[in-house]
Amino acid sequence: MNIVDRIYDLFAEFGGQDYGEDVSQRDHALQCACLAQRDGAPDTIVAAALLHDIGQFIDCAGAQAEMSGTDGYHEQRGGALLRPYFPSSVIAPIVMHVDAKRYLCAREPGYREALSAASELSLRLQGGPFTPEEAGAFEKNIHFHDAIQVRRYDDAGKMKDMVVSPLESYRDLLTRLAAQGADHTGQEAASDK
Ligand SMILES: [Fe+2]
Repeated sequence: MNIVDRIYDLFAEFGGQDYGEDVSQRDHALQCACLAQRDGAPDTIVAAALLHDIGQFIDCAGAQAEMSGTDGYHEQRGGALLRPYFPSSVIAPIVMHVDAKRYLCAREPGYREALSAASELSLRLQGGPFTPEEAGAFEKNIHFHDAIQVRRYDDAGKMKDMVVSPLESYRDLLTRLAAQGADHTGQEAASDK
């Protein structure tokens, strides 16, 4: 099975799950991708926004925080699934979107206070806000700005009544990016924990 079909199968099986924010996992992904498109973001960012939480569908990682009070490392699971098929410009913001939250909690006044209850719970399981040293190192990653951008869509893509494009409308974009293949660099690998 090719990776794009695999992605669609995962959404078909698990996309209806509750995201914990009054929207389903599918709606959250579609809202994030739609916000990226409205921003005029490049295809790589649109794809990252759409797929940033796909690791939640693997081995029940998404439910792990609520069920057992541990971190499911969904950003790593998603990165591992997609890394062999997509360029680093797609993979890095996915792998880094949790750290982007930890960074913004450390560096942006009011950011943490505005997090939803679910995001606050997962923040604590994910290690809490970055230290100043960790934040400084994160800023130096070549994918820093892309990771922050996807995080902004992640935080905003939790609306109750947002009109979005259907999942199928992203098939050509994902197929094009998968055709480019993997191009992984030391910087992208360095962003992994
Ligand atoms: Fe998300």
